[in-house]
Amino acid sequence: MSDRVALVTGAANGLGQEFCVALAAQGRRVAGLDVADLSGTERRIADAGGAFLGVRADVTDPSAVAAAVDEVARHHGGLHIVVNNAGIYPSIPFEETTLDDWRRIMRLNLEGPFLVTRAALPYLRAAGWGRVVNLTSAVVFLGPPDMVAYTTSKAGLVGFTRALAGAVGGDGITVNAIAPGLTRTLTAERTVGADGGFERVRGLQVVPAVEEPRDLVSTLLYVCDEGSGFLSGQTINVDGGSAKH
Ligand SMILES: NC(=O)c1ccc[n+]([C@@H]2O[C@H](COP(=O)([O-])OP(=O)(O)OC[C@H]3O[C@@H](n4cnc5c(N)ncnc54)[C@H](O)[C@@H]3O)[C@@H](O)[C@H]2O)c1
Repeated sequence: MSDRVALVTGAANGLGQEFCVALAAQGRRVAGLDVADLSGTERRIADAGGAFLGVRADVTDPSAVAAAVDEVARHHGGLHIVVNNAGIYPSIPFEETTLDDWRRIMRLNLEGPFLVTRAALPYLRAAGWGRVVNLTSAVVFLGPPDMVAYTTSKAGLVGFTRALAGAVGGDGITVNAIAPGLTRTLTAERTVGADGGFERVRGLQVVPAVEEPRDLVSTLLYVCDEGSGFLSGQTINVDGGSAKH
């Protein structure tokens, strides 16, 4: 079945754009949600002959999320796969972390997936089949000291994955998380990857290369596969072997 409908958040850039392109290449009907302009993603998918709907919405805005999810389901005739990818990963020394920083990170990285998944679930339940995929991070295993708020938010997403898997498993819906290591996106290049960050992380890996967005695609497609119905509640670490768990 290649005609499943997939919604990817944070689809304008980085991993989200790569995931949209890969899902569309499988013949799936894909929608991307982002606060940013989605025309780059739209162009890549159109060039490959795929179907894409871009929707501008903020994942932390409950009514915008509900309207966006309804629009996607109406446009594509249902919804089956939700990839909660939108997120931010600032490095902030713990004692300099303001309450506003903390709340901003939790809102986007944790409330966003909650709101998007809650809005999407009625469509997945109606289809009797679904895949929810949450982008967490290898930081949940490594605990970098300058990313306490980010690590906490992504560890929350691991708990969300485990508990939600039990809540929806009876309806043919799986819930899993993917934990990338430091991956070369434009945002990572500007932030944690800058000043030798990629080289430092590569030195911790057993795979001697910088992780690229395409290195995460096979795991996403595996989790979303028709044959992966027995895989649920799991966090799959794809970080070149830095963390082993
Ligand atoms: N790149 C890495 O090294 C890395 C490593 C581990 C985990 N991750 C996780 O993977 C995900 C994607 O990372 P990336 O590097 O591709 O990021 P990115 O910054 O390239 O892309 C994130 C996208 O989310 C969008 N976005 C931001 N706030 C939003 C909001 N409120 N509503 C809707 N969209 C919003 C941005 O506009 C952007 O297009 C994040 O959740 C990140 O935490 C990334």
